Amino acid sequence: SGGTFVPAVVIGTGYGAAVSALRLGEAGVPTLMLEMGQLWNQPGPDGNVFSGMLKPDKRSSWFKNRTEAPLGSFLWLDLANRDIDPYAGVLDRVNFDQMSVYVGRGVGGGSLVNGGMAVTPRRSYFEEVMPQVDAAEMYSTYFPRANSTLRVNSIDKDWFEQTEWYKFARVSREQAKNAGLSTTFVPNVYDWDYMRREADGTVPKSALAAEVIYGNNHGKVSLDKSYLAAALGTGKVTIETLHQVKTIRQQKDGTYLLTVEQKNADGKLLATKEISCRHLFLGAGSLGSTELLLRARETGTLPNLSSEIGGGWGPNGNIMTARANHMWNPTGTKQSSIPALGIDDWDNKDAPVFAEIAPMPAGLETWVSLYLAITKNPERGTFVYDAAKDRADLRWTREQNAPAVAAAKSLFDRINKANTTIYRYDLFGKQLKAFADDFCYHPLGGCVLGKATDNYGRVAGYKNLYVTDGSLIPGSIGVNPFVTITALAERNVERVIKEDVTKS
Ligand code: FDA
Repeated sequence: SGGTFVPAVVIGTGYGAAVSALRLGEAGVPTLMLEMGQLWNQPGPDGNVFSGMLKPDKRSSWFKNRTEAPLGSFLWLDLANRDIDPYAGVLDRVNFDQMSVYVGRGVGGGSLVNGGMAVTPRRSYFEEVMPQVDAAEMYSTYFPRANSTLRVNSIDKDWFEQTEWYKFARVSREQAKNAGLSTTFVPNVYDWDYMRREADGTVPKSALAAEVIYGNNHGKVSLDKSYLAAALGTGKVTIETLHQVKTIRQQKDGTYLLTVEQKNADGKLLATKEISCRHLFLGAGSLGSTELLLRARETGTLPNLSSEIGGGWGPNGNIMTARANHMWNPTGTKQSSIPALGIDDWDNKDAPVFAEIAPMPAGLETWVSLYLAITKNPERGTFVYDAAKDRADLRWTREQNAPAVAAAKSLFDRINKANTTIYRYDLFGKQLKAFADDFCYHPLGGCVLGKATDNYGRVAGYKNLYVTDGSLIPGSIGVNPFVTITALAERNVERVIKEDVTKS
């Protein structure tokens, strides 16, 4: 057999990957993590690790010539984006034909770029989506374990009520209330005490300096500060950065052989390596893990993979929308980049929606109320392998997002009616558009639990091969997904270590 041998390899360093590596390390298993992005701990020329949202530079984006911000326009003008040099930056936008998917790149995966909203799904919906998983065990053991290891915390409600930084959220709450809708506080992995000190002016600002999708320089407990720090602390886990796994094959002795490309941050190929392992954990995310397995199935390096690989994909019903407020109802020039409230209308049988009240931290008054709506869209997409481009292509049409738009529209029509307000049509590109239905933050599925894998993420057709990340969840979870991804990975890896790893 070929290549450098390590007992366990984990591909990626996002939620599923980080959980697996920590628990393998604790079990004494030497584990190598391979991450295509960078380790974000070196300050750039401006003294910061990450570039901000208002003046993004090459650190913001994964090999782009121009930044591709979700709010691409303001009054139809492309004000947010900048020309940049292609570089191994922290946020990627993977553009498929009719859907674009935002993902994080670097040690910590999506935790580096996300809003930190740490939401445990309601149990009834979890049971509906994953009936084969013991919900009692999830809610008594694995969700609490995930929340505490991620260091989830809650905002001080008195501070929320009086700070100028959450005026935008209080305005949206009032308008929701006028329509008979209720809001709920959303826990976060951003350290709310740190944010209060930002407001007091005693520490460097991050959430209060409009930082989020291109990385937070302070305050956010991303995975590199929680799970991954603990994993490295076991002394058994190593992380190689700027290492992208390209192919996976199984050798005669049952071990897996990976080909891995090492590049520099400007994209120059430095080396192609072969690494072999006994236990292989895929934590490259919905897009990454699915692509690796599709490529392996279609090129014949893992020919026994099931036809379920690539199926069951969904954008968690994500729809972004914005409302225009009256001149007498400003949302504030100061807005924290970290959301604190959600409109919870999930019990509405006709159109369940959980809508995060999102900031628009432009530094000037915009009169905009922005939302990321999570809806229950039953439509699913499928990944297929494009041999010519050697990549996974997503079969998903714009029309498939119509049920999600309809649900979001029914909620925000109610809010607009109750407040005599209207939608903003200028924020999502050059055309007249009130609902952004062409991108998502929450890709889920592709290697669905119980279909492409067994009920613990063991890939069907192979021994010692596991999927650990968001690709296990069948397209929808009803809330922001990382707490669920983390808790499910905790459940699965506990079983796998006990039955497959420490026994053998
Ligand atoms: P994740 O995508 O985190 O990690 C995969 C890692 O694998 C990446 O680091 C990637 O570089 C690496 N990789 C991929 N292919 C590879 C290969 N071939 N070789 C080596 N490495 C490879 N969720 C939430 O719950 N609350 C929130 O507030 C938000 N907000 C939010 C905002 C934005 C802007 C985004 C983009 C996303 C969110 N999310 C979110 C979503 C959340 O971040 C997402 O669901 C999780 O990060 C997914 O975790 P995974 O473990 O599946 O993979």
